[in-house]
Formats: sequence, C-alpha cells, structure tokens
Amino acid sequence: MTSAFSDLLEHWYAEHGRDLPWRHTRDPYLIMLSELILQQTQVSQGMDYYLRFAQRYPTAEHLAAASEEDVMLLWQGLGYYSRARHLHAAAKQVAQAGSFPRDYASVRALPGVGDYTAAAIMSFAFDEPYAVLDGNVQRVLARHFGIDEPVDTTKGKKLLRALADEMLDRRRPALYNQAIMDFGALLCKPVSPLCSTCPLQDTCHALREHSVDRLPAKSKRTAVRDRYLTYIYVRTRDGHTLLHRRGSGDIWQGLFEFPLIESEKPLAMAEVEQRLSAKGALTLIASDVRHQLTHQRLHADLYLLALPQVNDELAKAPESQTINGQQSMVNGQWSIINGQWVKESDLDRYALPRLLEKLLERLERE
Ligand code: ADE
Ligand code: SF4
Repeated sequence: MTSAFSDLLEHWYAEHGRDLPWRHTRDPYLIMLSELILQQTQVSQGMDYYLRFAQRYPTAEHLAAASEEDVMLLWQGLGYYSRARHLHAAAKQVAQAGSFPRDYASVRALPGVGDYTAAAIMSFAFDEPYAVLDGNVQRVLARHFGIDEPVDTTKGKKLLRALADEMLDRRRPALYNQAIMDFGALLCKPVSPLCSTCPLQDTCHALREHSVDRLPAKSKRTAVRDRYLTYIYVRTRDGHTLLHRRGSGDIWQGLFEFPLIESEKPLAMAEVEQRLSAKGALTLIASDVRHQLTHQRLHADLYLLALPQVNDELAKAPESQTINGQQSMVNGQWSIINGQWVKESDLDRYALPRLLEKLLERLERE
C-alpha cells in the first residue's frame, strides 16, 4: 500500500534527491561498501573513499585478495578500523561462497552488517521490501508521527521499527528508502529543519505541536570518557623514528602510533621529562589536540625527542620496566615494547589513526 506520506517523500526525492555514485549500481558488494563507508563519515567525504575503494577493489574477489595492510591504508582517515576489518572479512566470505547472498538472513549474517546495512543492501540491490531505520529515518518518523517515546529504549525502538515497516512503500522499496534518508539528511535535519518548505508540513505532528526541537526524544546521553595521551615523536639525526603497533582490546587495533604515555589527567612537561628521564631533551610541539570518538574524547600532547642515532636496544626492554606497557627510558636508554624503527620518509606506508595524522601535520609545520 502506498500512502500520502510515501508519495510525498518520493515526489520530493525525484526533484531534490542527491545524485550519488552508489545510486547508479545494483551490485550488492558495492552497495555494502558504500554503506559501511557512509556509517563512518559524511556523504561529501565518503564519496572519495567510495570511489577509491570501488576502483581499486571493484569486486568482492578483488577485496578478498588484498592484504589487511593495504585495506587499512585505503581506509585510513575514516576511523573505527574494525569496520574496515569487517568489510574485508565480508568480502572474503562472499568470494569464498562464489556469489553475494540474496536473502535477508544470510546478508545480515555477514561480518559488520547490522539491521540497517542488511535492509539497505536488500532494498537497494534487490528491491526487496526491507525498511531502513537509521538516525535520519528515526528523526523523520519521530517528528512526523509525534513519537514521544525515547528512541534509545527498547520500547521506543520497537515502536519506530513497526512504524518504519508500516510506512515502507513495498512496491518501490529502494526508491522509498533512499527518499526518506535523503529527506532526513537534507530537509528534516537535526538542527534547523526546513519546515517552512516541507512537503509534509500539513500532516506533521511535531510541527503542529511545536515539538520539532524536542524530537526525537532521548532517554540518556551516553557518557563520554576523556583520555589523555602524551605522544613522543623520536627523531634521529639520520631521519628515523619509532612506531608502535597497537594491540587488541582498545581503540585503533593494529594501527601504528608513536610511543605514548597515557594518563588520567594531562601531564605537565616536567612530569613527562621525569617519567622518561629525559630532562631538557623534549620540545613541546602540540598540546591538547582533541579527537572525538563515539564514547571517548581524546586529548593528545606531542613532544619531539631528538636522538643522535637509532638505538637497537629500544625494542627489547622487559615489560616490567615500561610505563603503561608502552615505553620508558631504562638505564638511560629509550625503550619501547613492540616498537620498530622506521625511516621518516616511509611513514606514509603505515596506517595511522586520524589523530596521529593531525599530530604529524603539526610537527611538519614546525
Ligand atoms: N548515508 C548512508 N547511506 C546512504 C546512502 N545510500 N545515500 C546517502 N546517504 C547515505
Ligand atoms: Fe520534519 Fe519539519 Fe517536515 Fe515535520 S515539517 S517532517 S519536522 S521538516
């Protein structure tokens, strides 16, 4: 059944919808690729990443055959690298199976594919009637139908899921899903929605009740944790630096970073010097460079430590003598666990988290 609601959305979309590269394909692999990228970033930035991935790895088989390092390098800057690992694993499963699955349950079972991505793939690639429910859709539905129930509760989610399924235009699921998502992104925006030009204004509950700014309701704000990271960029006279590969169980698994001290509070320079037994040897390059992750706010300081030459003892210090399992000066020698010397000119071969790229930019400006 179609409704005035879906008709108006589809009409609006026909006139105002965006022409985006992934809307020109029905290839489920490319659609999965675009959706996983777009969960990480804005459409404007995601476009570049999508085009690069689609060119380098045009099929699941191409991506499956790539090395993890290469995939991470291409993903670099998008953040949340476990999503890239999932994408890689999904491509391997598809390549192994010989074709992309066609039923919802099998698509949903692919690594990294949640309810939203599965519905997006099923509708955009196969025109199957699965309603997408992302933040944009939640907002449009909650406002238009005046849903007061917080969207982050079980009850609220159930209500919206039922409403999303009910509103879906089953004859044109791909078109309808794209339409309601674009509508939320461009018109019924989180802040300053364009109600005065909205084609749904006559039926919009929130507009009538003056509750647009309150909806969608949230029961709680997720707690954000502050973390303080003091990075040491080591530079030898012949142009080497130290990199450390992050382990599992925390952010940035498998990515590279400089040696680091993590602390509960920001560290004063004197404190850093003392911890490293490196009095007078440090230069402060940047302080309180911030980086926001989903539930964490990172604060990074960057120091430069000039050393005369590469010191091969550095990678061998026993863990008990390190600070926070990372690094310290031991017996007057710099040490690091899992550290490796690399040429500064080779740094772009290592996948660095976005925050570390920002720090490097500050260093280069010195
Ligand atoms: N955001 C997430 N998926 C999208 C899509 N397919 N088109 C536009 N924006 C999106
Ligand atoms: Fe969203 Fe405003 Fe349109 Fe209602 S009238 S659907 S709140 S843009």
